[in-house]
Amino acid sequence: MVTIYGAVHLCTAFRAMIMEGDRVIMSVKFKEMLYGGDYNPEQWPREIWQKDMELFNKAGINSATINVFSWAKIQPSEEMYDFSELDDIVDMLTREGKQIVLATSTAALPAWMVKRYPEVARTDYEGRRHKFGQRHNACPNSPVYRHFSRELAARLAERYGSNENVVCWHVNNEYGGECYCENCEKAFRVWLRKKYKTIEALNQAWNLAFWGHTIYDWDEIVLPNALSEGLEGDKTAFAGISIDYMRFNSDSILNNFKAERDAIRQYDKDTPVTTNLMGTFKGLDYFKWAKEMDIVSWDNYPSYDTPWSRTAMSHDLMRGLKDAPFMLMEQTPSQQNWQPYNSLKRPGQMRAQSYQTIAHGADTIQFFQLRRSVGGCEKFHGAVIEHAGSENTRVFREISQLGEELRKAGGTISGSRNKARVGIMFDWDNYWALEYTSGPNKDLMYVDQIFRFYEYFYNKNIAVDMIPVDADLGKYDLVAAPVLYMVKEGVAEALEEYVAAGGTLVTGVMSGIVDQSDNVHLGGYPGPLRKLAGIWAEEIDALAPEQSNEIVFKDGLRGQCNMLCDIIHLEGAKDIAQYGSDFYAGTPAVTENNFGKGCTCYVGTVLSEEALGRVLELMCDRAKITPVIEEETRLEVTKRVTDKEDLYFVINFKDEELPLPKVFGGKKNLLTGSVLTEGEMLKKYDVRIVCCPK
Ligand code: GLA
Ligand code: ZN
Repeated sequence: MVTIYGAVHLCTAFRAMIMEGDRVIMSVKFKEMLYGGDYNPEQWPREIWQKDMELFNKAGINSATINVFSWAKIQPSEEMYDFSELDDIVDMLTREGKQIVLATSTAALPAWMVKRYPEVARTDYEGRRHKFGQRHNACPNSPVYRHFSRELAARLAERYGSNENVVCWHVNNEYGGECYCENCEKAFRVWLRKKYKTIEALNQAWNLAFWGHTIYDWDEIVLPNALSEGLEGDKTAFAGISIDYMRFNSDSILNNFKAERDAIRQYDKDTPVTTNLMGTFKGLDYFKWAKEMDIVSWDNYPSYDTPWSRTAMSHDLMRGLKDAPFMLMEQTPSQQNWQPYNSLKRPGQMRAQSYQTIAHGADTIQFFQLRRSVGGCEKFHGAVIEHAGSENTRVFREISQLGEELRKAGGTISGSRNKARVGIMFDWDNYWALEYTSGPNKDLMYVDQIFRFYEYFYNKNIAVDMIPVDADLGKYDLVAAPVLYMVKEGVAEALEEYVAAGGTLVTGVMSGIVDQSDNVHLGGYPGPLRKLAGIWAEEIDALAPEQSNEIVFKDGLRGQCNMLCDIIHLEGAKDIAQYGSDFYAGTPAVTENNFGKGCTCYVGTVLSEEALGRVLELMCDRAKITPVIEEETRLEVTKRVTDKEDLYFVINFKDEELPLPKVFGGKKNLLTGSVLTEGEMLKKYDVRIVCCPK
């Protein structure tokens, strides 16, 4: 039963508590699916604006994201604000009935500000104070920046917050980056004092007795960069310090977001506030951020060779941040400019990519950008309106077709939910800690390891939720926690409770090793997971890229493993597979352990895709995990559900034609209204949305 609380905000968008039982399932709903993107009329003469409106209408563009990089224009000096042009832009879009995503413009500093207050610019990892230039360039702990950005957000909200076409606030843009200036250093000390209370606690947490780094005064703390604890590459002499710095930096930037959000809220109580995130971006703890955002939005820029499964994982992660539908704030209609090779999206590819985004939980499709720039580094970046300035382009035609489809189908899809019985843990503390660690193998990358597990489920069309380490695990029949290197307080207990109650947990190598400060859980790996896994990993061997070991399953089947090999003693668990060679040949490599009513599978090495598939298949059988549809297919099949119907998104990302699964024969295609035929063929990038009433 779904109940909606909260007022409808002038019929266009509303922030509301939508409850399913006692769980908040969504906080934002748009009246129609937003279809638009970044629009920068301030970079163009006014004659162009009217032409833009005509073309937007032709393409079915119903929304525009404006004012993303206009700070210098709307505040030409410290003393002066000038909203006259923005007024005209807002008026024009309002007259045209467009929904406006209004950005606050604070992601690029105006030149006058850097000139008068050099402290607003960042100091980089090498300790160099930056001059005016580029964007995403503000020191998050500069009081001057904090003051001006708040003030601007407040003035914008006061002026435009009651406009009913303003359906969403877009604070800043793609927050990220680091600053190592003196203001940040002081703020870091304050942050640490709050966290650790005493110098002794700090010394202990960072294990500062190592290399005689013990400190006696808070003022002795310095930021960990190339001038202090930084080691070759991205490594650090004290991961504990560097991880705390990452947490601090994420919090500092989040404070910038919150300051602007709160300034907006003084004048506009209802319109949802977001900022555009970047998928698996390392710098910010997005689970923490999402708690402060009304709706998650993100920018999806796969490169020409990014597997579709990897993009799907990013979508699932973005949905997982709030366990709710999200906005696709940016994607390119065709080309990018900042990759090494910016290939065109092939015919049908943008449409397929858009439906994949929606299938995994998006309630909007927005582009960067609506009109291609005339100069600057993004002049080769694709847009709805290309340099030719006309509708006679392939890209424009494809956008118009999608616009028409979403106009018809968007209402049915918006607000529908994705459901999964498999959860994969993703955790920014672990991301930072694992990659800061010096040894045992430099090639072990966090997201890659998570993705190897995700990919198995993706290929089988098994729905996955990407979940935080403090998720409600009871919702899942199978939880995978690969490279759960850092086990923070409470996590082992929650996992034990989950497995004891009947859950299936898959974890493994480089798990349970350190606590929140990157100090080792003593007493044998995998530390607090040892009882749960029923094993002790005595040593961890590292294999160079040209090396590998063999895996021998109980039934004699052989596979391969590489990168890391735990040398394991069984302590109640039984082995599923053993190593085939080296001095630890014949010892356990993969194990399973009954614990309470459930089971923990420990994968003690980095298995080849095939071998990992075998292990995960066993665990899926055990946990009775089923794919979205029973029939095996190489199509991507995803499901979103409403109260009334199940919506299956069927997409062909393969180079060959593939038949529609039989089960969809005779059902309605939401995109055309027509009835689907059993066995009809889908070409590459073909899409069907199958509507099955409940
Ligand atoms: C990012 C930014 C945009 C634009 C695009 C180009 O996502 O948010 O302003 O630079 O990249 O791909
Ligand atoms: Zn700074």
